[in-house]
Amino acid sequence: MTASAASISGGADHGARHVAIIMDGNGRWAKGRHLPRAVGHQRGVEAVRVLARAARSMGLEALTLYAFSSENWRRPADEISDLMGLLKRFIRSDIEEFVANGVRLKIIGDYRALSADIVALLDDALARTAGNRGTTLVIALNYGSQAEIARAAAAAAAKGPITPETIEAELDTADLPPLDLLIRTSGEVRLSNFLLWQAAYAEMVFTDVLWPDFTPAHLEEALAAFARRDRRYGGR
Ligand code: FPP
Repeated sequence: MTASAASISGGADHGARHVAIIMDGNGRWAKGRHLPRAVGHQRGVEAVRVLARAARSMGLEALTLYAFSSENWRRPADEISDLMGLLKRFIRSDIEEFVANGVRLKIIGDYRALSADIVALLDDALARTAGNRGTTLVIALNYGSQAEIARAAAAAAAKGPITPETIEAELDTADLPPLDLLIRTSGEVRLSNFLLWQAAYAEMVFTDVLWPDFTPAHLEEALAAFARRDRRYGGR
C-alpha cells in the first residue's frame, strides 16, 4: 500500500495507526548535564507523559513504549528500583487523566513477575481503563520479544496448527493494529529484542535525539517521514 492509500484507510493524514518507541538515552542525557542517571529517567517519564497526551491529538490508535526489558534486570539494583518507583508514581499520578480522556492502558510483557504492589496497581489501572476507546497506551514491562514469540508459538501449538496467523493471534499485541512505525532514540540502531515479529513490515526511524529531549514535534517529524515512504510489503 502506498502512503497515500494508507492515509485513506488510516484515521489521520500520516496514515499511521500504531507507533512504537524504544526510549533510549536517559543515562547519556543525565551524564551530559553532570546529573544522576535517576534524573535522566525522571525526565524520561516527563517525555512519556507529554507524548502520551500528544498521541491522541495525532490520531494514533496505539502508542507502544519500551519501558523495561526482560534484560534490564541486569542493571544495578538501585537503578531498577528507581525505574520501578517512577513507574508506580506515573501510574498513580496519571490514571485519572487516562480515565478522563478515554485512554486505554495495556501492558505487554511478563509484568506479573514485578513486585506485588506494582502488579496490583497495574491490574487496577488496566481494569479501570479497559472499556476506553481512545488511544491505547501500551507499556512494555519485563518484555522480551523472543520470549513473547516462544510463548505465542506454544499457545498456538496447544490449540492446533502453527501458522504465522495462529502465532500472531497469541502475541501480547494481538488486539492492537499492525505496527506501522518503530522509532528508536539516542542514535543506537538496533531492535534490542523489541517487537521483532510485529516489526516485520514496520517503517523505522532512528534519531540521535536523547529520549528526555524527544517532543511531540519529533514524533510529528517521524510521522511525516512515515507518510512519505512507499510501503510495498514485498510487492513492487
Ligand atoms: C534507556 O535509557 C531507557 C530505559 C532503560 C528505560 C526507559 C524508561 C523510562 C523512560 C522511564 C519509565 C517509563 C515509564 C512509562 C514510567 P538508558 O538508561 O539506557 O540511557 P543510556 O543508554 O544513555 O545509558
